[in-house]
Amino acid sequence: MAAMSVSSACFSVFSYKKKVNRKIRAVASQNALETEHDKVKLGGSDLKVTKLGIGAWSWGDTSYWNNFEWDDRKMKAAKAAFDVSVDRGITFFDTAEVYGSRLALGAISSETLLGRFINERKEKDPDTEVAIATKFAALPWRFGRQSVLNALKDSLSRLGVSTVELYQLHWPGVWGNEGYLDGLGDAVEQGLVKAVGVSNYSEKRLREAYEKLKKRGIPLASNQVNYSLIYRLPEQNGVKATCDELGITLIAYSPIAQGALTGKYTPENPPTGPRARIYTPEFLTKLQPLLNRIKDVGEKYGKTPTQVVLNWLIAQENVVPIPGAKNAEQAEEFAGALGWILSKDEVDELRSLASEISPVIGFPVENL
Ligand SMILES: NC(=O)c1ccc[n+]([C@@H]2O[C@H](COP(=O)([O-])OP(=O)(O)OC[C@H]3O[C@@H](n4cnc5c(N)ncnc54)[C@H](OP(=O)(O)O)[C@@H]3O)[C@@H](O)[C@H]2O)c1
Repeated sequence: MAAMSVSSACFSVFSYKKKVNRKIRAVASQNALETEHDKVKLGGSDLKVTKLGIGAWSWGDTSYWNNFEWDDRKMKAAKAAFDVSVDRGITFFDTAEVYGSRLALGAISSETLLGRFINERKEKDPDTEVAIATKFAALPWRFGRQSVLNALKDSLSRLGVSTVELYQLHWPGVWGNEGYLDGLGDAVEQGLVKAVGVSNYSEKRLREAYEKLKKRGIPLASNQVNYSLIYRLPEQNGVKATCDELGITLIAYSPIAQGALTGKYTPENPPTGPRARIYTPEFLTKLQPLLNRIKDVGEKYGKTPTQVVLNWLIAQENVVPIPGAKNAEQAEEFAGALGWILSKDEVDELRSLASEISPVIGFPVENL
C-alpha cells in the first residue's frame, strides 16, 4: 500500500507541479498585494519584516549545498530567486558571514551575492526596500565586543550597505558570549544595525541574553532556530514558549526540512549530498503518510505541500519562517504560503500525525 502510494506520488508529481505552477502564476500578483503591507514587528524592536523571509545559505555555498559546485547558472538562478521574492512582496533576506565564505569552503560569499542582487535591483528600481538579516560567527578565537563590531563592519562591506536591519549571533560561543552581547548593543548604539537577535539559543541562554540587553534598553528581537513540522524541538525545549513570553520573534530555519517536506523527495528519489545522510529512504518512507495528508489538506486550499508546511509554521504565531530558495520557482512557491491560514483543527491534526515520526537530528549547537 505504502509502495503503491509512493510510486503513484512519483508519477503524479510532474503533472501536479505543472498545474501548481500555473496556479501560482495566476495568484502571483494577488500575493504581491497581500504581502506588501503584511509585515510583522520583530520582537520588541521597531523593525518590521514580511511574515516570511528568504534564506540565502545556499547562495555561493559549496560545503553543503549545490553538489559542492558553483557556477554562473546557479548564480543566475539565485538572482532570479531574489528578484521573484521582491516582485512578490517578500523583502526579508537571511544570510551570514560564513555562508559561502572561504572559511566554510564556499565559492562566493552569500553576503556579497545578496549585496550585488540588491544593488542591481536598486539600479532599476531605486525605491526597492529590503530588510537584511546577517550573522556573527562565534568562532572560538574571537573575543570581546570589538570582535562583533569588526565582523559586522566586514559584513556591511561585503553587502555594500552602511547598516543592516537585523544582526544575529549565529550560535552561542564556547566562551565570550557576554562580550558578544555587549558588541550587539554597541552595534545598535552606533547605528550600524536596526535590531539584534541570536540563533540556536536554548531557553536559558535566551533569557540571559534578553536580560543583559534589556539593561541597556535594547530589545532582543529574535531567536533563529531549527523549526518545522517534523522538527519541533522548540516546542519541547521551552524555546518557543520563552519567545512568546518575552516577546521575541522565533525565526524558523530549515522550515521545509531542507526539501523533505515538499514531497519532491521519496524513498526512490532521496536527496543527494549531505542531506542523504539525514533524509534516508527509511526516513522518507515513514514520512509518506504525513506527506499524503499535507497534500490532501493543500488541495482543499489550492496550495502545494510546501505552502502548507510553511503556513503551518506561520499559524503557530510569533514565527517567521525563512525557507531557502535556489531559483525563481521555489521563491514563487513560497509567496503562496502567505495570505491564507490553515484551520486550528488542521494545524493540530498535522502536528499529531507528525509526532508519530521521530525527528531527524538537528544541529548540535542548539544544546551548547
Ligand atoms: N541559524 C542557523 O544555524 C541556520 C541553519 C540552517 C539554515 N539557516 C537559515 O535558514 C534558511 C533555510 O534553511 P535551509 O536552507 O537549511 O532549509 P529549507 O529552507 O528547509 O530548505 C531549502 C531547500 O529546500 C529545497 N526547496 C526549496 N524550495 C523548494 C520548493 N518549492 N520545492 C521543492 N524543494 C524546494 C531546495 O533544495 P533543493 O532544490 O536542492 O532540494 C532548498 O535549498 C537558510 O538559507 C539560512 O538562511 C540558519
